[in-house]
Amino acid sequence: MVGRLEGKIAHITGGGSGLGDAMAHLFASEGARVAVSDIKDDVAQRVADSVVSSGGDAIALSGDVSNREDCERLVVETVEKLGGLNVLVNSAGVTPRYAPKEWDFEKTWDFVVSINLKGTMLMSKFAVDQMRKQGSGSIVNLASIIGLVGYAQGISDGFNPYPHTKGGVVQMTRDMGVALAKEGIRVNSLCPGFTYTPLVQTLVDDSDMHERLKSLHPMGRLGNPHEIANAAIFLASDEASFITGVNLPVDGGYTAQ
Ligand SMILES: NC(=O)c1ccc[n+]([C@@H]2O[C@H](COP(=O)([O-])OP(=O)(O)OC[C@H]3O[C@@H](n4cnc5c(N)ncnc54)[C@H](O)[C@@H]3O)[C@@H](O)[C@H]2O)c1
Repeated sequence: MVGRLEGKIAHITGGGSGLGDAMAHLFASEGARVAVSDIKDDVAQRVADSVVSSGGDAIALSGDVSNREDCERLVVETVEKLGGLNVLVNSAGVTPRYAPKEWDFEKTWDFVVSINLKGTMLMSKFAVDQMRKQGSGSIVNLASIIGLVGYAQGISDGFNPYPHTKGGVVQMTRDMGVALAKEGIRVNSLCPGFTYTPLVQTLVDDSDMHERLKSLHPMGRLGNPHEIANAAIFLASDEASFITGVNLPVDGGYTAQ
């Protein structure tokens, strides 16, 4: 049977953990050759090795998506080592919890924006340059439910950069989707609900917060990484050939309330 991404070359940023890890494994199992990149080269290498030992085709690359030169190089290395670029998944992301405690709100805001929003734009810019040469491509962004609705009361003070960046990714997806539609380049995003990955570990470790988060999702639970990866492969693949500029909630009903 032909895999859903047979013959495709995919680059997944933030591929060394969580959703990126799950997508790298699923994409490779469906025939893609995958470049797994991360700011932490050891975790990217671990995921690429795991994909290869499961019978898939993957390489590890190292780069910071908030750095323009790194983004340009990540695309060049993908093309040189794998022969092209059909799918970009922008999964690299952080929350303010990753900023050093001594930083003030403005420095923390700039840090999160530089990765979640600017990083998504920079990687897309260089990927689109390559996809134009090839005449087609698919970009899948990791936005969030928190790009579609505000945080539930009591979780944010309104100055948390995370929802600000994810709202930006939602609009970037629409704008790029429209702008690139005639060139055969599709741009979509996933808006996951809270999903079990290292990104939410400190929230889940707090049992009261964990119960509250579960209760905020009509399904009464958080998501699992493979449930997000299943939606990502659909948007990445030719099965979604008439879909662009869409921000798809994968959230157990969170944003339907
Ligand atoms: N887990 C959730 O509940 C959830 C929900 C909605 C959206 N998302 C989004 O999905 C994406 C993936 O999240 P996750 O849960 O897998 O998180 P994660 O922390 O498990 O993985 C994120 C990866 O991004 C990498 N990264 C961080 N900064 C980087 C940089 N500057 N350059 C390159 N790589 C960098 C990290 O090293 C890590 O490997 C993020 O954009 C996140 O905001 C996650």
